[in-house]
Amino acid sequence: MVSGFGITSKGEKAKLYSIKNGKGMEIAVTDYGATLVKVFVPDKENVLQDVVLGYDSAEGYEKGDVYFGASVGRVANRIGGASFELNGKTYKLTANADGNSLHGGCDFYNKRMWKTVKAEDRSITFSLCSPDGDQGYPGKADIFITYELTEDNELKIHYHAVSDADTIMNLTNHSYFNLSGHASKTALDQEVMIAADAYTRADAESIPTGELVPVDGTPMDFREYKVIGQEIEADYEDLVLGKGYDHNWVLNGNGMRPVARMRSKETGIMMEVMTDLPGMQFYTGNFIISEAGKEGAEYKKRHGVCFETQYFPDAIHKEHFEGPVVKAGEAYDTTTVYKFLVEE
Ligand code: GAL
Repeated sequence: MVSGFGITSKGEKAKLYSIKNGKGMEIAVTDYGATLVKVFVPDKENVLQDVVLGYDSAEGYEKGDVYFGASVGRVANRIGGASFELNGKTYKLTANADGNSLHGGCDFYNKRMWKTVKAEDRSITFSLCSPDGDQGYPGKADIFITYELTEDNELKIHYHAVSDADTIMNLTNHSYFNLSGHASKTALDQEVMIAADAYTRADAESIPTGELVPVDGTPMDFREYKVIGQEIEADYEDLVLGKGYDHNWVLNGNGMRPVARMRSKETGIMMEVMTDLPGMQFYTGNFIISEAGKEGAEYKKRHGVCFETQYFPDAIHKEHFEGPVVKAGEAYDTTTVYKFLVEE
């Protein structure tokens, strides 16, 4: 199903596409930013809950700056000093975060109209042509993002891109989840589990120092389910610097695998995150002040949390971090799955 989703300040008409499966799940995505707008999941009482934060129309997404449901690129997360070297050449990016480049730096992918290239019953593909020099990055990149809803209540996001010159790339989705429902206020009472024995330590500007720190004995330990708010205010330097959880976890294993879970006792909704990527930013919405959201909801600090699967932040400056160089003509191909279940 497709409907109008408002008009941007440039006069572009946005569309909202809904996809339903046979299990009562439904998602809605817009071509404005290739953004995930709604995720309806039946709860333990079979009541549909929309579990992602968002706005009612493209206008909201255009104004907003906290990346609700956003497709982020060309390089999600931070690049220290807003510049990098590739093949002996220095590339300057826009410094939009303490002298560093964050989520592309400028002219954000989530604030552009994407092209709808394929709209099917259970999936939709958006594309964006990011020209050579876009945001400061080399190479013209053709980017495709596919959202698919399966009969197993999996929301699959597939990223595919090819650049005509060597470049760096790190695409992610910045959805904020609240499994008690998007308008239910805090997410701090919900539980999270992250299959990671370590995280990347970051400085006061959230740039990794290069150190991989074991989570053992720290508030960063989510190897077993833990209430998000339990230790979030702990006097632990890295947490204080991050103003809450806003770090990259070094995910155990490799290849497509389950990496995290979240659950709400209130609705019984459980979400499992799977990815083939090495890292994940678990970000607890520390910087949301007050956002006028969907259906009159007001979102505040920590009303939703993000599971941004990724190559490690600032990987281009750290030899021991995998990625994010993509060679000319080679496919960038990665998938992240958010799967929903109900626990009684
Ligand atoms: C996260 C990032 C946070 C913050 C947020 C957007 O990905 O780690 O520090 O910038 O995006 O508000």
